[in-house]
Amino acid sequence: MCGIVAYAGPGDTTAILLEGLRRLEYRGYDSAGVAVAARRKIKRVRVVGRVEELTDPVGADLTGSYPAGIAHTRWASHGPATTANCHPHTDGSGRIAIAHNGILDNAEQLRAEITAAGGVLTSDTDSEVLAHLIAAQLEAGAESLVAATSAALDRVRGTYGVVVLDAREPDTIVAARHGSPVVIGVGDGEMFIASDPAAIAHHTRKVVYLDDGELATVTAGDYATITRDSRRTIKAPVELTAAAEGYELDGYPDFMTREMHAQPEAMRRALAGRLDPRWGTTRLDGILLDARELRSLRRVTIFGCGSAYYAAEAGALLIEQLARIPAEAQPASELRYRNPVVDSDTLYIAVSQSGETADTLVAVEELQRKGARVIGCVNVVGSSIGRACGQGMFLHAGPEVSVASTKAVTNMTLSFAMLAVLLGRIRDLSPADGARLVAGLEKLPAQVEQILADDEHIAQIARTYANASRMFFLGQVRGWPVAREGAQKLKEISYIHAEAYPGSELKHGPLALIDESMPSVVVIPDDDVLERNLSTIEQIAARGGPVIAVTSAELPKSAPITHMIRVPHNSPELDPILLTIPLQMFAYHTAVALGRDVDKPRNLAKSVTVA
Ligand code: AGP
Repeated sequence: MCGIVAYAGPGDTTAILLEGLRRLEYRGYDSAGVAVAARRKIKRVRVVGRVEELTDPVGADLTGSYPAGIAHTRWASHGPATTANCHPHTDGSGRIAIAHNGILDNAEQLRAEITAAGGVLTSDTDSEVLAHLIAAQLEAGAESLVAATSAALDRVRGTYGVVVLDAREPDTIVAARHGSPVVIGVGDGEMFIASDPAAIAHHTRKVVYLDDGELATVTAGDYATITRDSRRTIKAPVELTAAAEGYELDGYPDFMTREMHAQPEAMRRALAGRLDPRWGTTRLDGILLDARELRSLRRVTIFGCGSAYYAAEAGALLIEQLARIPAEAQPASELRYRNPVVDSDTLYIAVSQSGETADTLVAVEELQRKGARVIGCVNVVGSSIGRACGQGMFLHAGPEVSVASTKAVTNMTLSFAMLAVLLGRIRDLSPADGARLVAGLEKLPAQVEQILADDEHIAQIARTYANASRMFFLGQVRGWPVAREGAQKLKEISYIHAEAYPGSELKHGPLALIDESMPSVVVIPDDDVLERNLSTIEQIAARGGPVIAVTSAELPKSAPITHMIRVPHNSPELDPILLTIPLQMFAYHTAVALGRDVDKPRNLAKSVTVA
């Protein structure tokens, strides 16, 4: 989604901005632009396309040194991807430039007002009005750029993370946040601002996160933060965590490969210090509820979007099975609109890699407004969802760049498994079962290494079916969220239509679609529904459908399976974590065989910060 970078300092402003934009590319965008203040005028360069296409015009047009500049990658929301719609936007006089993330709900009304007053708007965007409103406040005598920005923001309804540059005060940047993240990077005699620490983590590890309703005035040597009602806020920089570093390929062909192969390490990080073999339980110190409070829970509701939602489904199942607490998963994008009934005995868990997904964040806020107890299961420390929840389980997956989430999703399910053991041991899960699961959790990273070593075998199967136009992913109970996640991965990066079904539902309709052109990936944990899964395979094979079995079980030799992918057996409860890995690899190799841009699939963004 849209990304913001800004810089104030003695460095090569345009080079720093371009590098920052490059590091935000993984979020997805369709156009980009840079603006600097030069001789009391804003100079800017904007292009539709990739950041690399911006490099030449920026080099040619923005040569020289500038004390400050702002830049943006845009994901079209109001108006198509055209140069006129690219940020930064300026006011009519070219004095003010802004880069904005978020959506202004009353933009149409403001556009009409600006036009009626003789202003000329040159884009279709909602954002452009901000530049006009701020310039108008300065013309009307606002005492500073931050005062003008604050007054302009009083006029808008909606969400924003915004940076503002004034050609008459070329060494100052004003930033403001409401519902869209802004972080200030504190350097040595230079300052950075971004919507995502990824853009600036290579420059500094000292950061200040703006809160909603806060503004900052930033120069090379200083930053000052205030609230919208002009109260000074004193914010010391905090240390950026590892989760915001390391956005390099390090010799891998793409980020998805790098991230799939980082899974064993990421899992070890997530498990470190959290397993307690002596008592057959786990420790999750980020959850600030004591054993009595955890024991009094009567329900757990986990919510997230996309793959995070499928991980939530796996998590709900684990909690229900191990702790015997009713648990459910909900898509956050639905939950936020459902006017949910909040129950004081329910623990709500928001799950998100980025911690910035707008639907999930709004669901958190809506639940909190109703008095719900919401904890986070988030990868990015300091993210909006992490901070809104204030407690929870950090995923420790490290930075994830590829749009297709792999290691973060694995660590989501892993974290839910740890939580399920913890909740189980507070209730009726026996010490022996607890110990078995703790031992199983410990074994998982090495077992994932084994699966990753099966790469060529999985690649061959993927190439065999790469030309299929549709596929089924089937699973039952524990295999069902795995099948959903497998279908999701294949869809998003290969563009093959993949549909997930619970295996036993097949005969209630979808079986009509089975023929030799419809491959089915059947997820088969080694558990008590093995017979049902074998029956599903029989039904498909009887109609000529190819079957790709992904299993941790020893299947009978007679089972009519076309291709088999074996994963090691752990515990039935934990096998789903292992079964997900080959499905990532299958999707990846299918996408590569089809020549897709695996890290940046069409139409998708890494972090969906608009609702
Ligand atoms: C995963 O591969 C997808 N790109 C997508 O479904 C993602 O999981 C979803 O948008 C939620 O993102 P989040 O975890 O950052 O909240």
